[in-house]
Amino acid sequence: MEDTADPERHYALFGDYFDGEDLWQRVLDEGGIDPDEPICLLIVTLLHFMPDERHPERPLAYYRAQLPPGSLLALTHVSLNTEDDEVQDAFRTVAGQYTNRATLPLTQRSRDEIVALVGDFEFVEPGLVWLPDWRPESTDTIDAAEANIVGGVARKPV
Ligand SMILES: C[S@@+](CC[C@H](N)C(=O)[O-])C[C@H]1O[C@@H](n2cnc3c(N)ncnc32)[C@H](O)[C@@H]1O
Repeated sequence: MEDTADPERHYALFGDYFDGEDLWQRVLDEGGIDPDEPICLLIVTLLHFMPDERHPERPLAYYRAQLPPGSLLALTHVSLNTEDDEVQDAFRTVAGQYTNRATLPLTQRSRDEIVALVGDFEFVEPGLVWLPDWRPESTDTIDAAEANIVGGVARKPV
């Protein structure tokens, strides 16, 4: 950021997603976001590192409630494409590596569970899709069906 950021518009905060109200207040106190204008909140490659018992949907519901109407929520999340035993085994192997060798466990969620995370926000086109299918810039991408990660952008009703 030192090299490329605009100090009038860009800043970084070290904070915990689970802090909810405190973190949101710190963001507002920085003054870089106008809470009267639509805001784009990026929750990218984050929630699949948060197991169900930590209830990642609760802070997200709080953040959604703070966003002004017309705001956008961009979300990506690991989701298995199939119940194929081979894919399930491969996922268990990868998830095991996260549990044993990384700082956070890996949790895949079903499409319905991920849709529920956006609450009453409405997905803009093309919806919640396999990530390579989200507005691809070329046809030369990996097979969407093998992505096992979905993404979408949802708008808060005006
Ligand atoms: C895969 S990275 C994604 C980073 C970024 N969103 C991106 O797409 O490039 C996951 C990030 O989540 C951060 N993270 C994990 N738990 C967090 C928490 N409770 N609060 C804030 N950040 C957290 C990790 O430190 C890591 O930087």
